[in-house]
Amino acid sequence: MSAGWDPAQYLRFAGERLRPALDLLVQVPLPDPAQVVDLGCGAGNVTAMLRRRWPQAEVVGIDGSAAMLAEARAVLPGCRFERADIAAWRPACPPELIFSNAALQWLPDHARLLPRLLGLLAGGGVLAVQMPAMHAAPLRRLQAEVAAGGPWAERLAGVAPARAILEAGEYWDLLRPACASLDIWETTYLHALEGEDAVLQWALGTSLRPYADRLDGEERARFLRAYAAALRPHYPRRPDGTTLLPFRRLFLLARRE
Ligand SMILES: C[S@@+](CC[C@H](N)C(=O)[O-])C[C@H]1O[C@@H](n2cnc3c(N)ncnc32)[C@H](O)[C@@H]1O
Repeated sequence: MSAGWDPAQYLRFAGERLRPALDLLVQVPLPDPAQVVDLGCGAGNVTAMLRRRWPQAEVVGIDGSAAMLAEARAVLPGCRFERADIAAWRPACPPELIFSNAALQWLPDHARLLPRLLGLLAGGGVLAVQMPAMHAAPLRRLQAEVAAGGPWAERLAGVAPARAILEAGEYWDLLRPACASLDIWETTYLHALEGEDAVLQWALGTSLRPYADRLDGEERARFLRAYAAALRPHYPRRPDGTTLLPFRRLFLLARRE
């Protein structure tokens, strides 16, 4: 399961990270679902949005990180939160909505995972998913390059880089046979980040974690400086101090037969 998540670091860019969840939520065509699941709910920000949209529904948050769940429980005492590995998770009764924002990219084998999640829904239920599609971007590519190119290389050799998700058409082929309707789209957001080495700070909240968690002290600091230096030419600070981060995301909205 997922250890090492730091809610404070992840929430530094809460606005940018929540916007895609909102863009997905407005597309969900369910007027009054009784059971709603926030899969990979993290610190509960998206769970709160689901609760606000459907105050009558039972909203359950599922996550593998005890630290994230502790944060979620503190902010949303009215929702139920359960610790589980998404790969093995099964609901007690089939929900009408499984909503997952920025979580499924951490899991392997989407060819099995996505159809399995669709199959867990009640008839007519909706699977709504948003995932970063950043595997080819400098942000990600440079993590592996810097990890392999410094004195820390041996220590970081076992770190699996953030996975590549599938192509949009592959999700279409996987899900279409079991769907009444299917909508897939991609959006590239241009996040305007504030502060020094803002892209490093962004990555520290998510994809850089598996590397940074393996190092400590001066070695960790040197690794972070090397990664920050490698990022700068790709994400220069603008004259007003802003750093622009183009961030591509894939959305899918699948309605079960
Ligand atoms: C980037 S955060 C997203 C949190 C939340 N959905 C949001 O949008 O703010 C990813 C979350 O997925 C969870 N996660 C990753 N892999 C998981 C797994 N196999 N089982 C359960 N949770 C997992 C992590 O613990 C983390 O809280």
